[in-house]
Amino acid sequence: MFDSQAFRRALGNFATGITVITAVSPEGEPVGLTANSFNSVSLDPPLILWSLDKRSNNLAAFSEASHFAVNILAADQMHLSNQFARPSDDKFAGVSFREGLGGAAVLADCAAVFECSVHQMIDAGDHFILIGKVEQFEAEGRAPLCYHQGGYSIVMPYSRLSSDKGETSSKPELPGRLDSNLYYLMLQAMRSYQADYLPLQMSTGLQTTEARMLMILTEHQSLDVKQLVEAVAMPEQDVRVAVEVLERKGLISENDGRYAISVQGQEKSDSLWHLANEEQERVFAKFSDEEIATFSKVLKGIIAK
Ligand SMILES: Cc1cc2nc3c(=O)[nH]c(=O)nc-3n(C[C@H](O)[C@H](O)[C@H](O)COP(=O)(O)O)c2cc1C
Repeated sequence: MFDSQAFRRALGNFATGITVITAVSPEGEPVGLTANSFNSVSLDPPLILWSLDKRSNNLAAFSEASHFAVNILAADQMHLSNQFARPSDDKFAGVSFREGLGGAAVLADCAAVFECSVHQMIDAGDHFILIGKVEQFEAEGRAPLCYHQGGYSIVMPYSRLSSDKGETSSKPELPGRLDSNLYYLMLQAMRSYQADYLPLQMSTGLQTTEARMLMILTEHQSLDVKQLVEAVAMPEQDVRVAVEVLERKGLISENDGRYAISVQGQEKSDSLWHLANEEQERVFAKFSDEEIATFSKVLKGIIAK
């Protein structure tokens, strides 16, 4: 038996961007859905592709549309990803957009937009592959919204200080002016921290998003799916998969659509917090309590802007 859930989970290791793909229905209504299956195909002619689930309510619209627009979401557009990933008659409520080629909606403030004429539609399993010919595009270069292991992520530029093994050297020689560039230093510090911490977290048998969900459920009595979507920065479909996984492992339980942590889950969460605290103590061991308090204050100040 082929395990489709494990297959889906394995695919989640390929980090992607997130797009909202739009078109106009034969009735003239704007339609759109969240998709991460977007990819480039050809430079000459300029072709791109994405795949559409045959169960989509918008199958007829995309089958008949002459054009579609691929809106590459920016990091601060998570709400649009959530809004277009849910079947609804009013997906465009509160969304600012203009009509692009063939009437397909071009959403405001995206990282990039590719306006395409439909080049080919290929039947492929439970999806159709749509190939578009790019007629027009704009690229604002905003930081993109990413998707990895069922959760939203942001891009962190790769460190030039890393060794081949992916570990930062213990005595980094910071190149020139970067030495005093705080943004650069924060990125390198994050990367260095993450390199050691994420494998530790994975060793508990939980994906980052599942671990995050469990840790959040220890802070709250019980949460429904909508509240979890907000709290853990995950699309609803992935929250549903994750709660199923956590429930099967006996770490959470469901009652009337609300999820609460179980005794076993509490123990797992304690061990996750323990790991997090241990790692923090290890990393910050060479600094005084006063330095750490100042560091924390500075970080909170930057976050709050
Ligand atoms: C991150 C993410 C990526 C998705 N990628 C795709 C995709 O590539 N193709 C697709 O058909 N659905 C994809 N979906 C699911 C659709 O967005 C979702 O089923 C939506 O409700 C479809 O709306 P519709 O039935 O109104 O067309 C994705 C959802 C999320 C959250």
